[in-house]
Amino acid sequence: MIELRGGPCQRARHDANTVMSPETPYPKSVFARNLTDEAGITELMDDLGEALTLGRGKIRMMGGGNPAHIPAMTAIWRERMRELLDEPSGEFDRVLADYDPPAGSPAFRAAMADFLNREYGWELTSENIAITNGGQTAFFFLLNRFAGAMADGSEKRILLPLVPEYIGYGDQGVSAHALFDSRRPLIERIGERGFKYHIDFENLALDESHGAIAVSRPTNPSSNVLTDDEIGRLRSLAAERGIPLIIDNAYGLPFPGVIFTEAAPVWDENLILTLSLSKLGLPGTRTGIVVARGEIIAEIRSMTAVVGLANNNLGQALVRPLIESGGIRRLAEQVVRPYYRHRAESALALAHRHLPVEVPWRVHESEGAFFLWFWFEDLPVTCRELYCRLKEAGLLVVPGKAFFYGLDTTGWAHAEQCIRVSFTQPEEVVEDGFRILGEVVREVYR
Ligand SMILES: Cc1ncc(COP(=O)(O)O)c(C=O)c1O
Repeated sequence: MIELRGGPCQRARHDANTVMSPETPYPKSVFARNLTDEAGITELMDDLGEALTLGRGKIRMMGGGNPAHIPAMTAIWRERMRELLDEPSGEFDRVLADYDPPAGSPAFRAAMADFLNREYGWELTSENIAITNGGQTAFFFLLNRFAGAMADGSEKRILLPLVPEYIGYGDQGVSAHALFDSRRPLIERIGERGFKYHIDFENLALDESHGAIAVSRPTNPSSNVLTDDEIGRLRSLAAERGIPLIIDNAYGLPFPGVIFTEAAPVWDENLILTLSLSKLGLPGTRTGIVVARGEIIAEIRSMTAVVGLANNNLGQALVRPLIESGGIRRLAEQVVRPYYRHRAESALALAHRHLPVEVPWRVHESEGAFFLWFWFEDLPVTCRELYCRLKEAGLLVVPGKAFFYGLDTTGWAHAEQCIRVSFTQPEEVVEDGFRILGEVVREVYR
């Protein structure tokens, strides 16, 4: 194995005792330790916030998963906001001045259940729908509901059948126990520059230590979309063990619909689906939606009440008419998906234009979401060092290592050789970003 060259930025972060929050004189609870020690998602959101505020115009923000400001969608939200303000029934005052029930707005929950029934022939009622403050909070509740220190004294973990998986789950556990048990994927090389992950079903080995299986579809960071067959097999495995399969549809179906392959949404009482309004263009409204059996929904309701009393209700009020009319699906299919598909194709073309031919780079098949996932075989530095050098050159990406959690990656070079590059910023920013990526990568391999 080649010796990896490190730099100052990498050493600081790789020190196991490094904490991101300032030290206090007070001893830390396990909860505090888990949520405040070095966390990939905290760094990512700090980077994103900094680039979009202080660094706007100076730093090319191709790190976080901020949605693009799609003009046609922005116009719809403005129009809906005006309608809400002028609503004679006083809806706007209610939104601002009343707490919602903790499971969410009853009208929105009913609209959501009806919409999913009409679209997919499911048999949901509002008892199957709960709102949370974003999909992130939904996952915080669900992961800690099904794993960690269990009430009967046992310990359980969430099986992630394929990492790399969403960085934002990684540090959500509140108990002293490890929250995840993750598996490496099978890697299919495609042509000279492509690759794709598949679940290694031979290596899943589910047992009584697993409390649930979780996947994002499309997967953040790789954009991989688990096939219907893979989802079907995971469903069977989960059902055999009597544990739920949790599917995170933050980028997927029915909205925002940023999915470029054929994929059928599924639901039954053993599945838990999460959806979000964020990637439609409303991350500021913090609206997540959980679809699950009634007992789980009741638990989510309790958790929201305890942790935050109620949810932000603005997103529900803005979007409800589009759910009732079914127009949300048309927007997803005719506006949002084509927009991101075009952006993904442009980003791929830029990669081919700017990345050096002599470097053995590969990119994961672009199957959805907002990212391209690059794999630099034989990368002479760690992916964090590459990230640091890119940041110094004015480009923010996300180093891949933090997406490979819940397993020992020792000796697995691939986990050190990937970066995630988002393509949602304006075209000229993305073009400039790829130019920098090409220059820095050429330098690193020299
Ligand atoms: C896969 C995935 N799940 C969940 C979330 C959480 O998003 P939000 O809390 O804005 O709904 C994100 C955000 O980037 C994501 O990428």
